Order: sequence, then structure tokens, then C-alpha cells
Amino acid sequence: MRLPDGFDVVTEHVTVAGLTVEVRRPRSAEDLIDEDEYARDERLPYWADLWPSGQVLAEWVATQPLRGLRVIELGAGLALPSLMALRQGARALATDWYPEALEFARANADRAGVGRLATMVVDWGAPSDEAFADAPYDLVLGADILYENRHPAQLAPLIARLSGPRTRVVIADPRRPAAGGLIAEMRETDWRHERIEVRFPGRPDEQGSVIHRHEFTRRVPRT
Ligand SMILES: C[S@@+](CC[C@H](N)C(=O)[O-])C[C@H]1O[C@@H](n2cnc3c(N)ncnc32)[C@H](O)[C@@H]1O
Repeated sequence: MRLPDGFDVVTEHVTVAGLTVEVRRPRSAEDLIDEDEYARDERLPYWADLWPSGQVLAEWVATQPLRGLRVIELGAGLALPSLMALRQGARALATDWYPEALEFARANADRAGVGRLATMVVDWGAPSDEAFADAPYDLVLGADILYENRHPAQLAPLIARLSGPRTRVVIADPRRPAAGGLIAEMRETDWRHERIEVRFPGRPDEQGSVIHRHEFTRRVPRT
């Protein structure tokens, strides 16, 4: 699988659960900003970076027994958690609204030798019916996907449609304010929520080294 043309590519080596993955990505996300895209739907090419939450989520996925399970990742970007899900034997589908992100993710999965990564363009605000063709999923993943106020209202109904009674939803988040909105929306329906604090010492930004891993499971239906 070839990388898409026209990108100035750099390679990062990331070790997840003992496996060193060569993550190839564009050198600069900022250079990819397209003003027309931004004017249309405020789209910014954050996919081109590997975010600390993605690495934290990938570490968690790499410890899970996932053989044969169906896993979908939302806002996957370079999709390190999906690569780990493949490695664990899951059937993983990485999604994003940037097709280029998914091309990089597929190429990186091939290079890592974890298997063939399925991908689909899915926009949280306007998912096509195709996105639900394989629902319900066993596991819904997301890393750093709650950075704008509009995100909880887009993601809560999408997650509900991707889920069944036994679906687990795991979202890693660097304590962004909008995360509270999703937790509130999901708790209001029938989800139980648990928050786990994970240290990520390399985290470069101002909010410090703690990433939250939010785990959601369905409340047991009352009889
Ligand atoms: C901060 S980045 C995180 C990327 C990756 N999960 C990681 O942790 O490295 C947010 C990701 O969400 C994607 N995204 C944002 N809004 C989206 C939308 N409406 N539909 C689908 N993907 C979206 C972006 O393209 C980007 O890949």
C-alpha cells in the first residue's frame, strides 16, 4: 500500500506494548490547512499529527483480548489504536472525515505487518447509512475527538447507532472541556461511565500529563 502523493512525509517510531511502529505522516499539519475547507465546515487537518490520547488508547487496546471482535475507531487520524486492534486479532474499521488520513493509516498498518486495515470516510455530523452496515460493534474507540463544542452533540447519536446492548465505548481525552458534554449526554441515556487517569509524561501541551480514558458500558436493563 502506497502513501498518497504530494505530501512531505516524516517517519516517527512509536513503541506500543513492545511493538515499535513506524508511523509515517505529513511533516506539518499546519501546511495542510485549506481555507476553503475551513470555510465550508471548519475542517482542520489535525489528522496529520499523532496525538498523546491516540498513543494512550493504543496502549490500552494492545492489552485487550479482541480476537474476532468488531471494532470501529472514530476520528482515527493515523489510527494507531486501530492498528493495535488488528494486532490483537480484531476486525478493525478506522474512520475519519479526511480520506488522506485513512490512506496513511492503511499504509502504516501494512508497514507494521499487523494486517489489512479497513477504512471508511465517516463524518460525525453527516454519517452515511454505510457507516451502520456492520453495526452493532463490540468496541467503539476514539482518541482526542472532543475538542470542539459541537462534538458531543454529533458523537452521542452516532455512538448510539453504532452500539448494541453489549458494546463498549472507550474514548481517550486530554481533559478537554467538551468531554463533559459527551459524558452528560451518554449518562442521560443508558450508559454507565467510568473515568481512568493515565499518565503520559511526554505530553507537550499546557494541560499537563494526564489523559482521561473514558469507558462506557450499557447499564443493565431493569426487569
Ligand atoms: C485531534 S485529532 C486526533 C487524531 C487521532 N485520533 C489521534 O489521537 O492521533 C481529531 C481527529 O478527528 C477527526 N475529525 C474531526 N471532526 C470530525 C468529523 N466531523 N467527522 C469525522 N472525523 C472528524 C479529525 O480529522 C482528526 O483525525
